[in-house]
Amino acid sequence: SKSLVSIDQCTKEDILRILDNARKFEDNPNRNLLEGKVAATLFFEPSTRTRLSFETAINRLGGKVIGFQDASTTSSSKGETLKDTILMVSNYADLIVMRHHLEGAAKYASEITDIPIINAGDGANQHPSQTMLDLYSIQKTQGKLTDLTITMVGDLKYGRTVHSLISGMSHFNPTFHFVAPDELRMPDEYKLFCDKHNIKYYEHTAFSEEVINETDILYMTRVQRERFTDLEEYQRVKNVYILKSQMLENSKDNLRVLHPLPRVNEIAYDVDDSPKAYYIQQARNGLFARQAIICEVLGITI
Ligand code: CP
Repeated sequence: SKSLVSIDQCTKEDILRILDNARKFEDNPNRNLLEGKVAATLFFEPSTRTRLSFETAINRLGGKVIGFQDASTTSSSKGETLKDTILMVSNYADLIVMRHHLEGAAKYASEITDIPIINAGDGANQHPSQTMLDLYSIQKTQGKLTDLTITMVGDLKYGRTVHSLISGMSHFNPTFHFVAPDELRMPDEYKLFCDKHNIKYYEHTAFSEEVINETDILYMTRVQRERFTDLEEYQRVKNVYILKSQMLENSKDNLRVLHPLPRVNEIAYDVDDSPKAYYIQQARNGLFARQAIICEVLGITI
């Protein structure tokens, strides 16, 4: 079966096909393509958007949803292993969407079951369906994916959405600015990935208007408190960058502010009124991107 565990497994053609299908679902999200199918959403970590948009995607395609959003109510709290949980759910469902705190959990699941696994986030590693909706949002707002300058701000160490987005954008000749405090810099493996793919990137500790004014996509991120082993370090860095509306005053007309959400306080509420704020529509795009991903892994032609 076909799973989506990492955006790395998608070719440029795969990405463009899925984005094309997302566009079709935006035009018409209510189609009976999953009639008779059951999808399981297994969320071992909290979620609002990812789980609810996947479940909406399945419901609007005529499928049925089973699953859990609180693993403490399942037999994993009695010591059942991830392996046994996946094998049990595979007895009941045609597809598993899973979020887990362990990096590699979705890949592991995909190796022990015959039904497709969609990774809805594995620790600080990958969040490929988020990347697909981010790419869809970028394409929609910029009219293209190629030759864009993308500035990623905040927790670049633990933020799985930025890790996946680097890989997803690598087919489209991006220029990256990485804005992070020293403690939360982009990990070396992703910088090596950029080097290998001849992608230009610049690292900054200051969140300056000079960088904002060169930017097409300003990708804000939350400092991921749940990934810190030292909470004092979290307290030191949690408020390090806050985007305020006046910081966008001289930015390019086409700049759009994206954020995978949830936000804590890294985007001031006055930015919400700016026509450059796009994070709420971005989350809406998740529904269409996820409908396209579900059909892709199940081999359903649209
Ligand atoms: N962007 C995202 O993954 O949001 P949730 O954690 O609410 O699913």
